[in-house]
Order: sequence, then C-alpha cells, then structure tokens
Amino acid sequence: MQEKIEALLTEIEQLKATTVEEVESIRIKYLSKKGIISSLMDEFRNIPADQKREVGMKINALKQAAGDRLQQLKEMFAQNGTTDVRDDLSRTAYPVALGTRHPLSIVREEICDIFKRLGFTIAEGPEVEDDWHVFSSLNFADDHPARDMQDTFFIQHDPQVVLRTHTSSVQTRVMEQTEPPIRIICPGRVYRNEAISYRAHCFFHQVEALYIDKDVSFADLKQALLFFAREMFGADTKIRLRPSYFPFTEPSAEMDISCNICGGEGCPFCKHTGWVEILGCGMVDPNVLENCGIDSKVYTGYALGMGIERITNLKYQVKDLRMFSENDLRFLEQFRAAH
Ligand code: DAH
Repeated sequence: MQEKIEALLTEIEQLKATTVEEVESIRIKYLSKKGIISSLMDEFRNIPADQKREVGMKINALKQAAGDRLQQLKEMFAQNGTTDVRDDLSRTAYPVALGTRHPLSIVREEICDIFKRLGFTIAEGPEVEDDWHVFSSLNFADDHPARDMQDTFFIQHDPQVVLRTHTSSVQTRVMEQTEPPIRIICPGRVYRNEAISYRAHCFFHQVEALYIDKDVSFADLKQALLFFAREMFGADTKIRLRPSYFPFTEPSAEMDISCNICGGEGCPFCKHTGWVEILGCGMVDPNVLENCGIDSKVYTGYALGMGIERITNLKYQVKDLRMFSENDLRFLEQFRAAH
C-alpha cells in the first residue's frame, strides 16, 4: 500500500490540465467522496495495527499534496489560461540575458536622486557650446588658462564654438531663461584636451547643482553638502571644506569627505590623510548673476560641481578610469547586482 501511495504522489505532482473541466475532473478523480484518496481510506481500515501510524501519515500527506496541486493548477489556469507552460506562446524561445547598467549611470542616478529629495530638478544643456556659456558668463577673464587650446577642444574659432569643459555652462543657460527661485541639478558629459591615462581622459562626466533664491547662504550650502555626503557614502561620513578659487563663485571651497575606505584612519587610497576630495563649490559670484540678468542685490545662490567618475571610483574602487569607456564586458557585468 505504501508503494501505491508513493506512486500516486508522483502522479499528482505531474498533473496538468488544459481546460477548466479538466481541473474539475482531477478534483473528482482524487479528492471527491468516491475518489482515489477516499478509497485509500477504506483500504486503510484493513491494514495491520502496527503499520497504521506510518501509513496514516502518508495518506494525510498525499491528501494535502493533492489539495495543494489542485489549488496550484487553478491559479496557473487563471493566470495563463493553461497549466502547461510549454503552451505559453508569448514566452521567448530561449532565455533572454539581462543587461547590466553602466557604473557611471548607476552613480549619476544616485547623485540626482539625492538632490531630487532636496527639491532639485534636472536641467540639461548642449555639449557643443559657445564661449559665452562655458567661460565669459561665468566670469573667466579673457586670458584665463582654461580658455587655452591645451585644455579646450575648439570646434570653431570665430565666433568661438567649443566642446564644454564643465557642466557649469548649464547654470548660465538656465539662469538666463528662468526667474529665481532656481534649484537645478545638471548631469552631463564634458570634454578636455588631456592626454589619456589611468587618471585622466579627454571626456568625462560631471553633475552640477545650482540654487538661487533670496537669502541663500553658505550655511545652506554646507547643510546640502553634508546631506549629500551622508546619503551617498553613509551616515558616519564627515565633511571638510577647504578655501579654494573658481572664477564663478566667491567665496569658493573644495569639499573633502572622510575616506570611505579606511573610515578616516589613513590608507594608501587617501594617501594616509584620512580625507578625499570630491567636489568644488561656493556662493555664485554676483558678476555671474548680473551676466544672466538676475539682480544680485536681491538674490544670492550657491553652486557645486563634481566628477561622476571620481564618485564612482570612491564607491567601487575602480583604479583606472579608462575602464569606464572600454566596454569590456568582464568589467561591466560586475555591476549586475548593483541595481
Ligand atoms: N566647474 C568646476 C570644474 O569643472 C567644478 C565646480 C566648482 C562647479 C565649483 C561649481 C562650483 O558649480 O561652484 O572643475
């Protein structure tokens, strides 16, 4: 009898149905009053007492399995119109390999998401830009070295058309067209005439943030920076601001975070200082506001800019930034689990 029960168990697990009637006939065959399991119960009365316990348990398990399978069939039927998945003609003939997201895209989105939570919206601008938006409007003096051919790719000299060297050009485009308050985040690709090595490339990516309103202060900037650093690198992250210089901000600063690899103890990555630099920032220079038609006596603002490669490097410790553009699947596929 035990063998019979085992055989029935296998049979039940493989049951299929293609119509509702078949599902019902399965129920009648196995689980109704005159069904197979009931008749097993009848047989059960005649087996020797010492086997009753074991066989009883097996019959109960069989009954349970039959009930479960029937329920499963009903659900499969409701979902697919059949219980035989091979009949699902909408399925692909072979398994589809899922792609992975590029690490720079993952990090770009993470940065933007954090600023979106502070009320920033995305703004974009062209990669082929004019001199005004990349340099002049941002208070770069005529003889500033960044305008030099060694740093900038020129597309045309007169009038000057360049590949943008930073995403700060999107700031002025938005300021020229929008009344404050302005709160934007601008991700994008930028170009510089650099020799390609493990630490420099002729194109890379930045995210720029700009906030203009009445009474925006350096304290607001610092709080936004702290929020960003903690959301991006963890709640224990510390920040430190060092005075710096950018033509378009006054005062200007560079921000370091406590090294997220050694936690600030000192390691080769942070050159044993415990700190790593991640971005530039400052209060928007009044000249820039005026250049874009915003009254600098009424409005103030802060701006910040960071390299996405740099942040990605910190998050994933990619030592050679050429890896980001070589399309080596062995590298890219490692980011499968990241999102
Ligand atoms: N544009 C700068 C660069 O490419 C980064 C930057 C620094 C942007 C300070 C800013 C800022 O908005 O306030 O190096």
